[in-house]
Amino acid sequence: RKNYTTHSQLPSEHQMVYEMCRKFADEELSPHAGKWDKEHSFPVEAVNKLAELGLMGINVSSDLGGSELDALSYAIAMEEISRGCASVGVIMSAHNSLYLYPIDTFGSPELKEQYVAPWTGHTTDENGKLRIGCFGLSEPGNGSDAGAASTTATDAGDEWIINGTKAWITNAHEASAAIVFATTDKSLKHKGISAFVVPMDAPGFSLGAKEDKLGIRASSTSNLIMDNVRIPKSNLIGAPGQGFKIAMQTLDGGRIGVAGQALGIASASIDCAVKYALERHAFGKPIAEMQTIQTKISQMTLARDAARLLTWRAAQLKDNKEKFTREAAMAKLAASEAATMCAHQAIQILGGMGYVSDMPAERHYRDARITEIYEGTSEIQHLVIAGDVLKEYKQ
Ligand code: CAA
Ligand code: FAD
Repeated sequence: RKNYTTHSQLPSEHQMVYEMCRKFADEELSPHAGKWDKEHSFPVEAVNKLAELGLMGINVSSDLGGSELDALSYAIAMEEISRGCASVGVIMSAHNSLYLYPIDTFGSPELKEQYVAPWTGHTTDENGKLRIGCFGLSEPGNGSDAGAASTTATDAGDEWIINGTKAWITNAHEASAAIVFATTDKSLKHKGISAFVVPMDAPGFSLGAKEDKLGIRASSTSNLIMDNVRIPKSNLIGAPGQGFKIAMQTLDGGRIGVAGQALGIASASIDCAVKYALERHAFGKPIAEMQTIQTKISQMTLARDAARLLTWRAAQLKDNKEKFTREAAMAKLAASEAATMCAHQAIQILGGMGYVSDMPAERHYRDARITEIYEGTSEIQHLVIAGDVLKEYKQ
């Protein structure tokens, strides 16, 4: 039963993941993250290297071409990769926890062969491109209220016909397959929602314009538009009507990934601020010697470490096959708030240098903000946590 709390306690397998991702982030992500952000360019080479390192199928079993690592390794990898570049972090998390996980966990053996095995980074498509996946739950009319899906799936004999628009979809412009949640019976509300794998080259499938975002600008975000898209009957994931639960369970794991991403942004902000504070002089001494600056450094490190403990707890509960919904929501909430606070205070410590793009602090500040919004806003995490606490008291 796993219950690690510090990097030094980790077994060798996790230490290796940590060291590998840390080195990769320092050498191949951090030096380029500012440029990718400025140019809004998808980091193709870096994502290909993630695949070579086994990070684009990190939790998938080895017989399907994955690395078969646990949720704790995933959280550690997400933190280190996102410390280097938060956009690469979200590209990796959307692919692993939101695309691969639901098919791998709930899909038929045929779906896994077709839509998981070739997507773990060990093969490329006919054009030599790495296959990437995306996850379509949110819609223009409903994000937090995920059970109100208006995208429809109509039974047409040996096919499903999908109609509707999914909004804000990460990896949309690079992905070649999407998980799509659609209602097969609107009168059943969330019990009428089913989950499907939709190949994105299917006739009737198109993309909206790329969103122009505050942060994580090297990742693409777009609408998925489906106009009478026909997919085989066998592309249903799990049973009809099981879609909402599949979405919720997928998001439980996904929130550990976003918590890891937020921890990475917090750590990058701390690195930047502490190094600067040691070098910058004011009133004849390094600003690191000023007690108000030290309080900030303490608050930042405390928030990041507390959030990491919550994240590792959620990951290890998942690995131990225990309930972790409340804990994943707590981890995501605490880590995202730590990221925005650390990024905010890093700018303060850098003064004017924090406000310009010569230094990474302003990018961390912009990147941090999304972690309080996607995979459930902070308000939704509070609902999930309080709902579970109240359930416990009512028992
Ligand atoms: N695991 C399994 N089942 C769950 C569950 C979970 N974690 N949470 C809820 N359920 C089940 C409930 O048990 C209930 O089952 P029954 O119908 O059998 O009783 C059913 O689902 C409905 O539950 P609720 O009544 O609690 O559902 P709700 O409609 O009130 O919604 C919610 C709950 C937590 C607000 C949910 O809608 C939610 O999580 N919203 C946020 C959506 C979200 O996070 N979107 C992220 C999109 S992906 C993204 O953003 C990508 C990215 O980062 C890159
Ligand atoms: P709304 O649901 O309209 O919420 C607006 C405000 O009301 C928020 O403050 C919210 O917290 C609050 N609110 C809503 N309901 C309640 C309530 N019951 N109690 C208290 N407050 C409430 N979605 C995907 O499916 N796949 C993706 O890959 C994906 N990637 C994304 C990438 C980016 C960059 C962005 C910006 C979004 C992405 N999303 C994705 C969508 C994201 O999950 C939603 O934006 C998020 O869940 C919030 O939904 P909304 O934007 O519709 O806000």
